[in-house]
Amino acid sequence: MTEQTEDGPKILLGVTGGIASYKSPELVRRLTERGAQVQVVMSRGAREFVSPLTFQAVSGRRVRDDIWDAQAEAAMGHIELARWADLIVIAPATAHCIGLLANGLADDLLSTICLATTAPLMLAPAMNHVMWRHPAVQTNVRALDQRGVRILGPATGDQACGEEGPGRMLEPAEIVDAVYAAPERLISQSLKGLTVVITAGPTREPIDPVRYVTNRSSGKMGYALASAAREAGASVVLVSGPVALPVPRGVKRVEVETAEEMYRAVNAHVGAADVFIGCAAVSDYRPESPSTHKIKRKAEAMSLALVRSPDTLASVAALVGGPFTVGFAAETQDVTGHARAKLTNKGVDMMAANLVGPDCGFDQETNALTVLWEGGEAQLEQASKAVVARRLVTLIAARYHATRGTRGAAPQAGTPVS
Ligand code: PMT
Repeated sequence: MTEQTEDGPKILLGVTGGIASYKSPELVRRLTERGAQVQVVMSRGAREFVSPLTFQAVSGRRVRDDIWDAQAEAAMGHIELARWADLIVIAPATAHCIGLLANGLADDLLSTICLATTAPLMLAPAMNHVMWRHPAVQTNVRALDQRGVRILGPATGDQACGEEGPGRMLEPAEIVDAVYAAPERLISQSLKGLTVVITAGPTREPIDPVRYVTNRSSGKMGYALASAAREAGASVVLVSGPVALPVPRGVKRVEVETAEEMYRAVNAHVGAADVFIGCAAVSDYRPESPSTHKIKRKAEAMSLALVRSPDTLASVAALVGGPFTVGFAAETQDVTGHARAKLTNKGVDMMAANLVGPDCGFDQETNALTVLWEGGEAQLEQASKAVVARRLVTLIAARYHATRGTRGAAPQAGTPVS
């Protein structure tokens, strides 16, 4: 089962009976990867296409599909779900579903929830192109649009019926982008108005023009932090070593290669920062004199003289009136002990202790951290890096506001807008 977080936005995903519903489990997976809690509610027709068990497996929650579910209704299940949701997304939304909603009809659990909620509603229609163009459907779509319901798509292209035209459901990734396009609707704006500088990825220290010293950092953790900080309302500058990841939406990326370049790029941007997070795996040492030409294979043995690289994190922490500073301590043993020592020695406000090894920390999809600060600590359990990043951002925001906080917004729960 996909993990769900208790602090992520609550998205009720309605699935109605169209062939495009085979894509909806992927939508659940992508939403949970972004940290959302997803509750699936299926129509009768949807059950003909995809088994509720599939959705239960990917969402980690019992699928709801019956308004006459005696157990759930004893606790007013449809009202409870209508109040629970921060956002309702229906994908695919059939012509029948659109017609019900446009006319305020409630003949099953999903349509009843839609009438009983104040949460915003997004629909991803999917149907045959002739049906989509039908005046009755278009009238219903316009009515919903005028009521503030977001209509996502449909896309134009090949259809399951073998014809071509408008009516294809948007791809799950496009629907997720639309959901998160306005994160203030869903996610606590705990860093609103603040500027956050984050380092991510490895550095490469040249030995000669074709060889370098580096490490196994993929940048995934730092990039997830950049997305989470952005979603929490911050302006984000991401100083990144060489990685194969796209720039997170709304984030400014500054690309560097060596520890020296990272040091200079951070110091060029950190003056405006309220928070600095050092997640990069920076080479502690670099070859003293990189060769200008490719080193030839002549000697039986050779040694490489290394010199220390500048410590970006310690330099930021030492700035007078500098930002709230967060470091990562990548350790293979006595993780918390070494991290506490680094918290003190580097003079940072917070240190995330990260157990690393061949199959944890570096280049993995998941992570777990022990976060330390003077007088306290918190455990962030194993979860996807996106989820861990959101939890760390929440912690950072809370400590920032407790110790520095006159600028930016105080932390508060995500507030849905209607
Ligand atoms: O990129 P991923 O594959 O997702 O993996 C994530 C990660 C394991 C790299 C990440 O979670 C992590 O632990 N990053 C810190 C790696 C590291 O270099 O740890 P360190 O204990 O050696 O360094 C301590 C701190 O000093 C770090 O914040 C580091 O960025 C900083 N540092 C270190 C050396 C240096 N010359 N300059 C620095 O700023």
